[in-house]
Amino acid sequence: MGDKEKGRRSEGISRRRFLTYTLGGTGAFLASTALYPMVRFSADPFLKREEERASFVDVGPVDQFSETYKFVRFFVKRKDGWYHPEKGFERTAWVRRSASGDILALSPVCKHLNCTVKWEGNPRFKSEFFCPCHGGRYDENGVNIPGTPPAAPLDRYETKVEKGRLYLGKIVPRTRG
Ligand code: FES
Repeated sequence: MGDKEKGRRSEGISRRRFLTYTLGGTGAFLASTALYPMVRFSADPFLKREEERASFVDVGPVDQFSETYKFVRFFVKRKDGWYHPEKGFERTAWVRRSASGDILALSPVCKHLNCTVKWEGNPRFKSEFFCPCHGGRYDENGVNIPGTPPAAPLDRYETKVEKGRLYLGKIVPRTRG
């Protein structure tokens, strides 16, 4: 066999190898793309449970809360693109506990234009939330008072009590009526 022939053969083998690797790699990539949703779907209940556990934040002993609203500040760990503040993202809530132990945790974000509402923030309106930006008002359950700018009640946080401690979870949006 001449040198030319040998060179052509080795070139042929390396080309064949190249094609094998390329097609094999592409096949593996396509297979993983097709399989990923199935694997993700089967693991979903476990991931959801984990997410749910992670989404509740301990805000302290439940008996520190009474029928008078208390302002609570806490931090939520979550990924937001490349931005991961060390303490997490700050959240705030107005929390009260009724005589029967029911917890109501309200978002202080006004449903008009997102200012912060304050419990009894205006001495003229007792037992109400007041928004200083445009005079928005909400009753003691966070329901907007007709005739004032907000068109929907304050959003609520999910809550749970475990071993005497209160945990706040995700915000549950409330819409009008
Ligand atoms: S932002 Fe609250 S009333 Fe306008």
